[in-house]
Amino acid sequence: MNEEQRKQQTQADDAGHKKAVKDKDYSQYFETTYAPPSLKQAKKRGKEDIEIHYDFDVPEDMQKIGEGKKFLIRTYGCQMNEHDSENMAGILMRMGFESTAVTEEADVILINTCAIRENAENKVFGEIGHLKNLKRDNPGLVIGVCGCMSQEESVVNRILQKHQQVDLIFGTHNIHRLPELLKNAIFGKEMVIEVWSKEGDIIENMPRARKGKIQGWVNIMYGCDKFCTYCIVPYTRGKERSRRPEDIIEEVRHLARSGYKEITLLGQNVNAYGKDLVDVNYGLGDLMDEIRKIDIPRVRFTTSHPRDFDDHLIEVLAKGGNLVEHIHLPVQSGNNQVLKLMARKYTRESYVELAAKIKQAIPHASFTTDIIVGFPNETEEQFEDTMSLVREMEYDSAFTYIYSPREGTPAANMQDNVPHEVKKERLARLNALVNDLSAEKNKSYAGQTMEVLVEGESKKNPDVLSGRTRTNRLVNFRGPKTSIGEIVYVKITDAKTWSLNGELVETAEVNN
Ligand code: SAH
Ligand code: SF4
Ligand code: F3S
Repeated sequence: MNEEQRKQQTQADDAGHKKAVKDKDYSQYFETTYAPPSLKQAKKRGKEDIEIHYDFDVPEDMQKIGEGKKFLIRTYGCQMNEHDSENMAGILMRMGFESTAVTEEADVILINTCAIRENAENKVFGEIGHLKNLKRDNPGLVIGVCGCMSQEESVVNRILQKHQQVDLIFGTHNIHRLPELLKNAIFGKEMVIEVWSKEGDIIENMPRARKGKIQGWVNIMYGCDKFCTYCIVPYTRGKERSRRPEDIIEEVRHLARSGYKEITLLGQNVNAYGKDLVDVNYGLGDLMDEIRKIDIPRVRFTTSHPRDFDDHLIEVLAKGGNLVEHIHLPVQSGNNQVLKLMARKYTRESYVELAAKIKQAIPHASFTTDIIVGFPNETEEQFEDTMSLVREMEYDSAFTYIYSPREGTPAANMQDNVPHEVKKERLARLNALVNDLSAEKNKSYAGQTMEVLVEGESKKNPDVLSGRTRTNRLVNFRGPKTSIGEIVYVKITDAKTWSLNGELVETAEVNN
């Protein structure tokens, strides 16, 4: 679909939606860009081919708009959002803006938002509220809201009703439209809203201002078609779309040539990589097998859905080298009934079997996971199944969350008889177990020598350096600042719950 067709479609979809905004007359906005999100549209999965564009550039007449001005991007949510913010920063710099970390100095503030849980959204609304005062002192300030929350109808309505200090709302599919939209926001009088509910094409060559020089993100695919019943992501990120292998490989080569030491391949469900590429039979295993040959010390990938983790990928990961032995494998629950209600499409048994297969092929593999407690009607027994699975898997660490109903998802319509206090108490019990396991694992590393990529000074003590092992454990040690960005070897002397202390050693004889 080209841009013109998309615009027409968006306008057609919006016709119904405009009527839905009842309480106030928003007609003033319709004259300019007014294309709010539509949940109905976001649920659809079309068969149209995705086009890939290699000809993006900031139009010449927009390349000086930012001269003498500064921008700040505040990012919430996952790595995908972090990486999108790098693209937005790249675009803004191409428009002549300079970046700043000082809120009061900024002429443009973009808030790149996350919709995954209610508390993530509350933080953003808090922040938008604070910016009201800033706008009072500096009426020229342009405030933009983008990212996953912008894709939600209810959020856009709430901003329209309560947060008139916002000048611009755009979504996850039209980041490349930022120059045009920002121009309209700066020079126009009305709030600019352009959200595409239907995913866009792939735009390959957006300018990019990467945050670090050691570690880099590389998108391999966009969107998610899994529709787990609790999750908003398939609606905010659209259908699964894979980048072409040659484009990904070229980007990784470029990062290697530029001195990057670690890359993380990104997607909401990287194991589905390639399924939508119609002309080639090419999956994540094939991609990793090629990236393995590129001269970059470490390659990570996130996030894996257990369902699509195939044997070929395991085979390739077992070759090791720059493919690190850390597998983030979200399980969500240890109980089959709950997994079924979540539509995860695997069982506890098949998950454990998959993990066993991986462990057999990669003996030192470390596992981390994501877990939701308090899914609607979760019983004490069902929760205990999650606890027992965590014990069985001996995860290195886990991200744990209380279930948060997301409007428009199937689970949000489920009756729920579990009081919030009970959910909080379950989360506390789970966290205590996860911490114990992590501390125990860390203790077992004492005396071992580990390969560490030095990331920088420790946040707590600038005299100490900190870095990560191949399995993503945090290691603190004393050493020369010149080793920042290098791979070094550290003998572990002391274990904490969440980190390891050690001393620099010469030897390359590593245990892990
Ligand atoms: N694509 C990834 C997950 C991205 S969201 C995957 O499938 O593994 C990151 C995590 O947030 C999820 O794994 C899940 O544990 C959690 N999460 C997602 N929706 C949630 C909700 N409605 N309430 C609580 N936690 C949620
Ligand atoms: Fe959400 Fe499930 Fe997709 Fe992960 S796989 S992003 S949890 S719908
Ligand atoms: Fe949040 Fe969107 Fe990522 S909802 S977790 S920022 S994909």
